[in-house]
Amino acid sequence: MPDRQIHTSIALPLVDAYDRWSAFYDRYDNPMVFGARQIVQGLAPSVAGQAVVEFGCGTGRNLECLRLAGARSVAGCDISAGMLAQARQRDPALRLFQQDMAQPIPLEDGSTDLVLIALALEHVADLTPPLRAAKRLLSSRGRIVLIEIHPFLALSNVAAHFRDGATIVTMPTVAHDFSDFLNAAETSGLRVAKCREWRPRDFEGPLPEKVLKRGPDIPLIVEFELRHPGRG
Ligand SMILES: C[S@@+](CC[C@H](N)C(=O)[O-])C[C@H]1O[C@@H](n2cnc3c(N)ncnc32)[C@H](O)[C@@H]1O
Repeated sequence: MPDRQIHTSIALPLVDAYDRWSAFYDRYDNPMVFGARQIVQGLAPSVAGQAVVEFGCGTGRNLECLRLAGARSVAGCDISAGMLAQARQRDPALRLFQQDMAQPIPLEDGSTDLVLIALALEHVADLTPPLRAAKRLLSSRGRIVLIEIHPFLALSNVAAHFRDGATIVTMPTVAHDFSDFLNAAETSGLRVAKCREWRPRDFEGPLPEKVLKRGPDIPLIVEFELRHPGRG
């Protein structure tokens, strides 16, 4: 049956939008969250004993997954008090800071093995400040993993939004192309160690309809791994 409900659309400031979304973000049918979850699960075997930080950690779903996989410490920051309240409720072991990811997080330089940024950079115009902030935290063999909406989709106006009853809520987003990521990595003195483009056919299990909306071969998500130059 076609959806005949009449929707109104409102544009909210970023923090207001995520504060509102936080109550049901974790059970929302979102293709990017579906894909990102599997990519983070793929990181899990490599984090045992590691210190992990996530910028834009939201409800803490990624940090909890990595803590259960054996990460030795898990910390995150987010600008939305509502998202962080969900994260605190989910897992009291998470160390959480309410702040912008471009600002220095109160953790020691070189203290972190993995800095994760998942589905958050579409809200950040200039990617260099968060990458510099992440680099400061990195241990000599550490890595930054970015998991973001694929530029092909971002440039086709696919962006974060959600439906709350009959209201579609949009929020400020920035469509990043590949050069934004590559130039910000270069400017921050980071090396691109890996770039993977994730297509629906790369994910496991029954795929939700929204994941397959554009067919199995149109990339949904891009993943970058960034490291200190000259390190393994
Ligand atoms: C789509 S959610 C992703 C949350 C989580 N990373 C995940 O994978 O479920 C984006 C999150 O980034 C946060 N965010 C956006 N811009 C931010 C910024 N400049 N600094 C910190 N957090 C930010 C939002 O509040 C929101 O919780």
